[in-house]
Amino acid sequence: MAYLPVLLVLPLLAVSDSHVGSYPAAAGMRSDDLPRWGYTPEDYVAALAKLDFEAVKTDLTAFMTQSQDFWPADYGHYGGLLIRQAWHCAGTYRSSDGRGGCDGGSQRFGPSLSWEDNANLDKSKTLLWPIKEKFGLGLSWGDLIILAGNVAIESMGGPVLGFCAGRVDAADGSQDELLGPTARQESLFPCPVNGDCKAPLGPDTVGLIYVNPQGPMANPIPRLSAGQIRDTFGRMGMNDSETVALIGGDHAFGKTHGACPEGPGPSPQEDPTRPWPGKCGSGKGKDAYTSGLEGPWTTNPTQWDNSYFKHLQSLTWELYKGPGNKWQWRVQNATGALSGIMMLTTDIALLEDPEGSYQKLVREFAEDAAKLDHAFAHAWYKLATRDMGPVTRCLGKDVPPAQPWQYPLPAPSQPQAKLSKVRAEVVKMLNRSKTESAEGFFSAVPFARLAWRCASTFRATDYRGGCNGARIRFSPEKDWPVNKGLDQVLESLQLIQDRFAGRGLPWADLIVLAGNTAVEELGGKKMQFCSGRSDAADGQGSHDLDLDLQPKSWATVRESFERMGLSAREMVVLSGGARALGFAGAQLSNSYLTRLLGIGHAASETDLMFKFDPVLAAITQEYASDNGLFLEDFAKAWTKVMDADRFKGPRGNVCARLSEPLSDRESHLRR
Ligand code: HEM
Ligand SMILES: *[C@@H]1O[C@H](CO)[C@@H](O)[C@H](O)[C@H]1NC(C)=O
Ligand SMILES: *[C@@H]1O[C@H](CO)[C@@H](O)[C@H](O)[C@H]1NC(C)=O
Ligand SMILES: *[C@@H]1O[C@H](CO)[C@@H](O)[C@H](O)[C@H]1NC(C)=O
Repeated sequence: MAYLPVLLVLPLLAVSDSHVGSYPAAAGMRSDDLPRWGYTPEDYVAALAKLDFEAVKTDLTAFMTQSQDFWPADYGHYGGLLIRQAWHCAGTYRSSDGRGGCDGGSQRFGPSLSWEDNANLDKSKTLLWPIKEKFGLGLSWGDLIILAGNVAIESMGGPVLGFCAGRVDAADGSQDELLGPTARQESLFPCPVNGDCKAPLGPDTVGLIYVNPQGPMANPIPRLSAGQIRDTFGRMGMNDSETVALIGGDHAFGKTHGACPEGPGPSPQEDPTRPWPGKCGSGKGKDAYTSGLEGPWTTNPTQWDNSYFKHLQSLTWELYKGPGNKWQWRVQNATGALSGIMMLTTDIALLEDPEGSYQKLVREFAEDAAKLDHAFAHAWYKLATRDMGPVTRCLGKDVPPAQPWQYPLPAPSQPQAKLSKVRAEVVKMLNRSKTESAEGFFSAVPFARLAWRCASTFRATDYRGGCNGARIRFSPEKDWPVNKGLDQVLESLQLIQDRFAGRGLPWADLIVLAGNTAVEELGGKKMQFCSGRSDAADGQGSHDLDLDLQPKSWATVRESFERMGLSAREMVVLSGGARALGFAGAQLSNSYLTRLLGIGHAASETDLMFKFDPVLAAITQEYASDNGLFLEDFAKAWTKVMDADRFKGPRGNVCARLSEPLSDRESHLRR
């Protein structure tokens, strides 16, 4: 009996030929994104552990109603501004590649800083700086922006589920490079018609958070706007009730700003001695111009309630051009306070959903305030936290229990099988197949492939994926074309799994241990194995993890490694090793990279980048001339991928002592 299937074609990294004409330098694959302020991410985590969040909340609560002349608070309360800031920080998240979100606090940098939708959010950061300065390193900008939104909601009487602390500030805006607009976004994630962008991009317009408030391409057609809202909020991972609760719940607060038709002009100066050459009067307070739309949604915009939904469904709304000369909606024949409120086309869209679902939810939230409270609190927490990954990354006293979208795993089993015995079984199986299978030693390769496929779903962008949970056993992962044939490898491992039944051997540990053992048997260095994984009950949480940009070019390959949080060195060493196993006699070594550097060696365009990209070539040359270094770094990079999802707090890893980084400056996750 053959325990193992015939050699499964290795593309550990499925890369096919493509014809890319040039090899620009590896800009963007920066191995060095450490903050430059003289501290490390570990210093941040230590400071965070000591931070008194209650004191921050007390200061923020007082802050809300201390209006400052530099940028006066509407209705004497900064809540609306700070909720919009938090929403725009978190709402860049997209489930296609996990990019975006407030972790990193990159709203402070380009490109999102200068998005049309983020107008005047520089003012809120100037206002918040004294609080950031007071609490220092432990209070990241990302946490401060979200917490300010939470406190704003609470101080206006709204419901908040909790707070997951631990956003790690980025040193610059590079993590948002692919949100655009940038040349790299345009080449990898193009949007031919801006205003109708498709996935993997999140919003329909690059530069807006989700959709155009005036309707598709500024056409005030609510019915069409509803479809865009469903599409784009869906790409953020929100369903209908979450979408409606968020839009109507949050528009209970604050107002839109478009005091005059002439547009924003230059931003008002905070220096009172310098005259402001702007167009709308003083440019601030009642003269502010942000979106060009003007007015509040409710008659009490500093108070939480469901009047947005009541007004929306019970009043008759008519289209008009507001003072900012943009399409908006007012109450027909309004008198008194109702003559002061407005709706956006995207709000009216909730009444004209062709699927009928938004109308139903508007009615439910208008009639049942408690239902809105529940839906809103949960949806806001999800919005703010979605890019943080599993709950094991959250710190602080206010962290609520794991939410379904955090895909919690059961606690590791007790007892745990003796690993040396499991390893011996794997070796025995490999030995048997060596004698019984025509492919000889090749048969270890499928074990390595299984472990790689299991672990390499990990993405550092939102900390989802990875082998913990062993979801590769279930749909959708097991049905992905790239995983073809792995069911047979799992069948082989079932024999070992059966042998240890009842002794605590999770599939996730077995898959990684078998992969490690295979790599070692194929000539790799002995690796330390970090156990303690557990198994998910189903494949939930794997959807969206299969983004595979086509055509394959070195730019798309680089993107996929970057998404996994791997450096250029790690990309070279892992790719070189995978090729060696696939093509070079199934022995792990630098042989493939050595051959690649030789004159006239045929290789795919994507592999040739290791030779012709100047930075990658230098790395390749280093590995080609030192097989010992190659094997050592391969073991480290492999182990890093296998253990990438073993979170312990924002930056920690339960396996940390086992997987030291390649070097301090070159291998930590990008964020
Ligand atoms: C269909 C999606 C949405 C659109 C098109 C939209 C559009 C807008 C626009 C144009 C403004 C006015 C900005 C200004 O001129 O100051 C605004 C304000 C605001 N939005 Fe939204 N919004 C949407 C969803 C949301 C969501 C989901 C939230 C919360 C999670 C939110 C929270 C707010 C808040 C609090 C304000 C008031 C800002 C202030 O008082 O300064 N919006 N929105
Ligand atoms: C949307 O998701 C929430 C949270 O998982 C759930 O409670 C709600 O029923 C869902 N709504 C719809 C319309 O599917
Ligand atoms: C209400 O407004 C509509 C449209 O602006 C107008 O045609 C109608 O005459 C108004 N009705 C009353 C009673 O004022
Ligand atoms: C596997 O085979 C190697 C030599 O090919 C041998 O040294 C080793 O003892 C064998 N291990 C097991 C568990 O059978």
